[in-house]
Amino acid sequence: MRYLILCLGLLVAGNAATAVSNTASSTASAPLTTTLNITVEDLWNIYIGPVQSASINTTVEPTPIPSAQLIPPPQLYYPSYLPGAQIPGLGRNESWSFPKGFWWGVSGASYQVEGAVKVDGRGPSLWDAFTHRAMSVADNQTGDVAINEYYLYKQDIQRIAAMGVQAYSFSISWSRIFPFGNGPINEAGLQHYDDVINTCLEYGIQPQVTIYHWDLPLYLQLSYGGWTSPQIIDDYLAYARVLLERWGDKVSAWYTFNEPISFCGEYPVPDHYFTHTTTIPAIQQPYWCGHYMLLAAAKTYHLARSLNITAPISIKNSGGYKLPRTASPADTLAVQRAWAFNEGWFANPLFLGDYPPLLKNFTSSFLPEFTPEERTLIHGASDYFAHDAYTAAYYMAPDSGIEACLSDPSNSLYPKCYNSTYTLPDSEGGWLIGPASDPNTRWLHKATEWLPAFLHYIQDTWNPPNGIVITEFGMTEPFEAYKTKREDVLTDPLRSAYYHDYVQAMLMAVAEGVKLVGCSAWSIADNLEWTAGFTVKFGLQYVNLTTQERFYKASFFELARLFKTYMQD
Ligand code: NOJ
Repeated sequence: MRYLILCLGLLVAGNAATAVSNTASSTASAPLTTTLNITVEDLWNIYIGPVQSASINTTVEPTPIPSAQLIPPPQLYYPSYLPGAQIPGLGRNESWSFPKGFWWGVSGASYQVEGAVKVDGRGPSLWDAFTHRAMSVADNQTGDVAINEYYLYKQDIQRIAAMGVQAYSFSISWSRIFPFGNGPINEAGLQHYDDVINTCLEYGIQPQVTIYHWDLPLYLQLSYGGWTSPQIIDDYLAYARVLLERWGDKVSAWYTFNEPISFCGEYPVPDHYFTHTTTIPAIQQPYWCGHYMLLAAAKTYHLARSLNITAPISIKNSGGYKLPRTASPADTLAVQRAWAFNEGWFANPLFLGDYPPLLKNFTSSFLPEFTPEERTLIHGASDYFAHDAYTAAYYMAPDSGIEACLSDPSNSLYPKCYNSTYTLPDSEGGWLIGPASDPNTRWLHKATEWLPAFLHYIQDTWNPPNGIVITEFGMTEPFEAYKTKREDVLTDPLRSAYYHDYVQAMLMAVAEGVKLVGCSAWSIADNLEWTAGFTVKFGLQYVNLTTQERFYKASFFELARLFKTYMQD
């Protein structure tokens, strides 16, 4: 596939400089540019370099799951001794049940699980550049092979079906469909996902598709700065249209974007690897990204409706529950600021019609007001309040105070001007908010007791008319990557406790009137946790990265048992 690049901007390494050195002379301040005919292979060679390939490199037909693997563990976390006695946490609470139609699923995302990064015409994404060149990823790990889901999806879908899972939430790799992000379409990429979706349906699993889970086609970053440019809106829309037209009648839920707070937070992209494709000041870039993301999501929402797609379409938001660290007014205000700069950034425009005032105090000096048409377009463009609700944290005012921070752009906390922690002050014992996960996921603690309050807060604040979906929840078992015996890995008590208590917290919230529609656990299996690489594990299944074999962890059985106990037929 050959494509014309105008004003090629990224200089990752010396060989790229060669391409540019033939161009006309330029002034010191203007970037050197050229016009080239470039293939997908050229993009790989110039910007990424060699990639690894897997030893299993054709689609694997499923083989029967060994029956021994389907035997649930003994009740290790909630021991089943004391015959005849009631066992805490094991019995059924008759006042709890999930509403009719409630579904549960497991999740993954293209770059984290697929591997096969150069196979069948896929173009490089921003994350291929990040892992190979521009970011510090644990142990220099990459998604080149990942857990080889590209070839093992049939077996993986069979394995989740065997555990009673109802939905598989996965993302499409944009650069498999459009290797350059725009321009020519790669039919092989579409055919791959045809088969993934059809395999789900064959096993009675609802396919749920995230259109964008951070793996921006690299070319779009090179040519115009990705999400910092309004050009991204039409390119995203053209890509989304292909997906919606192809699978609109098969996919049971669409997510336009995964965690925009996270991927907009990648801007500005690392210096020295990407030439300046934008003049937007670094501090503003995430907010321009968010602005264009909202417009792209809203246009996609209405496009889907114009195509008569009835499946729910939502944005996956993110963030934990926020508690004031002390009862001081300053910490209470810090919590309000944190809601505004996190969930509210996108939830307010989508569910209430505009950015939160506390955010606008900062962004109104550079972002345009939404026009009345844009406001109407965006308001309501997410059917569910879809939330990746993992954990909780304490929030507090900066040491210098909120006002001092707000008037000092050099303050490292500016413009958010709140701080957060996982521990209480020493005067209150210095305790953690909940048991810590793996040291490489410092942000994550088991704080399941706060989930009902969290869900009430979402419902009361944004009042999503169709309810709430928990699109991700999960836990890393501390030091799991260091375990060498399979049975040690599969016995994951903290993750089992997390899922057990999390599901009970969901049930409590439902009993208290929260409109919860479904949930999806992260993750289907161990995978590449972005910059933490494979050093932390979120999987409900252990993956032997040498053989690519999968094994169910105890937590998967615990989760499945709870849904079996509390779902209505
Ligand atoms: C959020 C992201 O969507 C996913 O990609 C990530 O792996 C999990 N949370 C865990 O951090």
